[in-house]
Amino acid sequence: MRVVITGGAGFIGQRLARRILALGKLVDSAGEEREVTRLVLNDVAEPVDSLPVDKRVEFIAGDFGEPTVLERLITPDTAIVFHLAAVVSGGAEEDFELGMQVNLHATECLLEGLRLLDTCPRLVFASSVAAYGGDLPEVIQDDTLLAPQTSYGCQKAMTEFLINDYSRRGFLDGRALRLPTIVVRPGKPNKAASSFASAIIREPLQGETCVCPVPPETGVWVLSPQQVVESFIHAEQLAASTWGYQRALALPGLTTTVSEMIEALESIGGPAAVARIEWKPDAGVQRIVHSWPVRFQPTRALDMGFQPDASIVDCIEGFVRDELGGQVASTGRQKFAIRTGS
Ligand SMILES: NC(=O)c1ccc[n+]([C@@H]2O[C@H](COP(=O)([O-])OP(=O)(O)OC[C@H]3O[C@@H](n4cnc5c(N)ncnc54)[C@H](O)[C@@H]3O)[C@@H](O)[C@H]2O)c1
Repeated sequence: MRVVITGGAGFIGQRLARRILALGKLVDSAGEEREVTRLVLNDVAEPVDSLPVDKRVEFIAGDFGEPTVLERLITPDTAIVFHLAAVVSGGAEEDFELGMQVNLHATECLLEGLRLLDTCPRLVFASSVAAYGGDLPEVIQDDTLLAPQTSYGCQKAMTEFLINDYSRRGFLDGRALRLPTIVVRPGKPNKAASSFASAIIREPLQGETCVCPVPPETGVWVLSPQQVVESFIHAEQLAASTWGYQRALALPGLTTTVSEMIEALESIGGPAAVARIEWKPDAGVQRIVHSWPVRFQPTRALDMGFQPDASIVDCIEGFVRDELGGQVASTGRQKFAIRTGS
């Protein structure tokens, strides 16, 4: 079975690819579990980490909206697409035309490519809680109206609607996950307005300074990289009937605040880690981040078997274990010992 990941050189794409290779199997549109014989990763960027060395992996470089690239990506034997490529929140707000081109117009071309296969392939799309906005209730429910207040959120919401309609018509079998902010993201800061949420943990634990552009009371709805990858796999494997007519949902996450994250940082990295954070307000980032909801009642997702992380400390421990080899920069006290095993 041929599986495609757009944005396959990105942070989540790379982790999802490794998980799919380890699993070896996914579920096709007939509901049959089948071996993944080809995993195609597409991206405009070169992979930051090296690609998994595996004969099933193929890398197709280029913009998925370019007809020549799309033609090579969406071949008649393509059974599943994970659509993760995007211009992220800060980038789409900064450059309206680029955001519209990639997040909406190129995505429409991708949906059309899948429709024309005439095989009803499965599509799992990375949406975002940025699809919500405006006058929000205290707690987001499954039926809360989408009223995005950023171009990025609007492009994600429009794609969700298209996926509902393409699925209703039987052109494809779509599923869209509204992702919380993923914490802790390794590597360098990116253009996502939420980038600080990882930076305030990642940099101090590695002995580097970082800037926090939002006040400590800022709320965030978070999920770990491990759990988001499991959610993509779970979303793909669920039967179409479980999704019904509403193909999008908000993933369960954790409601936390910047100050709670810093407390968790201190419990792992000591006061020295906290001292590496510099507070420097950024009105642009604050405006975007404060338009996002932070409290959810994701009943439907929980009923469908999606799971949040146990705690913010767990998210940070996962980062230390998976990305830092269990080592954190000097804490000025006894070395932090991470739990091993699951
Ligand atoms: N990480 C988060 O906190 C978060 C939260 C909500 C939603 N999401 C969504 O999840 C998806 C993956 O996010 P991520 O954190 O891995 O981001 P990322 O920036 O690491 O990955 C996205 C990848 O898409 C690629 N890309 C952009 N335009 C492209 C194009 N035209 N053709 C091919 N590739 C292109 C980029 O080069 C990048 O490697 C995105 O759709 C993002 O909007 C992420």
